[in-house]
Amino acid sequence: MTVARPPIAMLAELTHRCPLSCPYCSNPVDMALKDSELSTDAWKDVFVQAADIGVLQLHLSGGEPATRRDLEELVAAAREAGLYTNLITSGIGLTERRLEALDRAGLDHIQLSLQGTTPEMADEIGGYRGGYDRKMQVAAWIGKIGFPLTLNAVLHRRNLHQLPRALEMAVEMGARRIEVATVQFHGWALQNRDALMPTREQAEEATRIVTEARTRLKGTLVIDYVPADYHSDYPKRCMGGWGSTGLNVAPDGQVLPCHAAQSIPHLRFDTVGDRPLAEIWQHSDAFNAYRGTDWMPEPCASCERKTVDFGGCRCQAMALAGDPSATDPVCVKSPHHVDLQARAAAHAAAEAPLVYRGQPGRTVVEPVGE
Ligand code: SF4
Ligand code: FES
Repeated sequence: MTVARPPIAMLAELTHRCPLSCPYCSNPVDMALKDSELSTDAWKDVFVQAADIGVLQLHLSGGEPATRRDLEELVAAAREAGLYTNLITSGIGLTERRLEALDRAGLDHIQLSLQGTTPEMADEIGGYRGGYDRKMQVAAWIGKIGFPLTLNAVLHRRNLHQLPRALEMAVEMGARRIEVATVQFHGWALQNRDALMPTREQAEEATRIVTEARTRLKGTLVIDYVPADYHSDYPKRCMGGWGSTGLNVAPDGQVLPCHAAQSIPHLRFDTVGDRPLAEIWQHSDAFNAYRGTDWMPEPCASCERKTVDFGGCRCQAMALAGDPSATDPVCVKSPHHVDLQARAAAHAAAEAPLVYRGQPGRTVVEPVGE
């Protein structure tokens, strides 16, 4: 068994409740209900335990974390535990007074999502009229208070042409960093592949724009880039490797190796009420299932990249190959790769309406090769 080093980061999904209903949402199709959410005290205890096992960075996420009325109290508790706190938010639900209170509580950083660079696009994708204007107001307050800011632009076929403007907006807002994240198809997003899959040409153009901007904006803006992986030849190193650097705590206290791990049916997850976090990190079956490289079948087992990408994403292997221990079908060495690329082209050529989070939608996803 691989001995786990301490985790660096923890994602605390405070709630699945959210005023937006983005079709690209990667939260599970079956969301945790409000009644099942951890209490304020339970979260505070989790933060202390996280700091004790070595976590340095706490990402407060959702859903929309601002829907938790105790957010300020949770931030203060996390800071008291010695954690660096990052709030991942759409901005909806934040007022100037609330941001000032978060500043007093010690919040270190804000990551603001961007659904589009125009009101028309942003409000259509978020499914929330007036959301863009509200977000711009929140961005102004963030700048006024002086929070370090990262902009998170989720891009797909409908809005990839707005990438140059998203980069300009990040500079105008005084963001230090932008995450240019081409949509990843997990959770709810899987049923929107016909509506959102970028074309290969769009994916290549995005890479060209990011490469040029990284040179032009060096010293002004750091650009993190998540490319369109269905059009790639090698998979992403998901979660930095399963159970290696980070953990997620779901709203109901289940401790997950990644935010989509519940899509792997044979895994059972401990909750923070069952066992101490340290024990879960070191010894739980779910964390040890794909930790390190011993679990790998061929072609990963003998591949020179096996400690570069750790076989890609387990949840994507589950969704696309029907087997969470398979090589991620994004990889050229996967027997499913050619089929996946054909699928990607077909999704990119398809026309489909957006299925918004919260709408009854299609939930059946066919594995590649079937
Ligand atoms: Fe990565 Fe496995 Fe592909 Fe090698 S075969 S590049 S380890 S996914
Ligand atoms: Fe679960 Fe990639 S999202 S391993």
